[in-house]
Amino acid sequence: MKTALDIKSLKGERAIVALTAYDFLMAKAIADEVDLILVGDSLGMVVYGEKNTHGVTIEDMIRHTEAVLRGAGDALVVADLPYGCSVEEAKKLPCKCVKVEGQPELVRALVEEGFDVMGHTGLKPQEAEEFKVQTGFEEEALALQEAGAFSIVFECVPSDEAAQVTRKLEIPTIGIGAGPGCDGQILVLPDMLGMNPGFKPKFLREYADLDSVVRGAVKKYKKDVIAGDFPSGGESY
Ligand code: KIV
Repeated sequence: MKTALDIKSLKGERAIVALTAYDFLMAKAIADEVDLILVGDSLGMVVYGEKNTHGVTIEDMIRHTEAVLRGAGDALVVADLPYGCSVEEAKKLPCKCVKVEGQPELVRALVEEGFDVMGHTGLKPQEAEEFKVQTGFEEEALALQEAGAFSIVFECVPSDEAAQVTRKLEIPTIGIGAGPGCDGQILVLPDMLGMNPGFKPKFLREYADLDSVVRGAVKKYKKDVIAGDFPSGGESY
């Protein structure tokens, strides 16, 4: 498996490719093409259908991270630390690589306990009231680096500022809605696969239309079942 150091050393070499995943099969499907898989607490919304990330628990993260680890191949797996979790709770996770929103002091404490920590600044969904572009995050980014983070997610920030802060940092930045000047990019997997048709922020590029694929396949299945065409003799014991 790739290490945090491998990811760090990509800065200035080539762009870091990252995606989220929450289960075994999806992790397996993306593992060969990505450097890093984040088990994001976005699972609250895209897996559990909740309004925000606040209801995600450390138990949820343990179970989903275990599943992703089984499929992740060589990609580095990073587990999001849910809202309000402590170092002691982080120790229950099945990996020693976590992402923390803001909170440089928690990042420092985790690093001291031997964790590799990815920071997260700009829009921080665990505390944000609304989805809007954030400015003035340089100070926090520098504090996260100083606390020992090996990289930082920049979410929903102006491109110019993201590029400027990226140049100041020694550690790589991974952007989502942060423009092309970051050291890498991350997207939420169901969003980039077109499985979340109601959610279309400006920064999102959909690389597939899985929602239509699933609906089309299920429509055909329904037709076959009702017509008695499925299962056939060859599909029966
Ligand atoms: O939870 C998540 O999926 C994230 C990404 C948006 C970076 O934090």
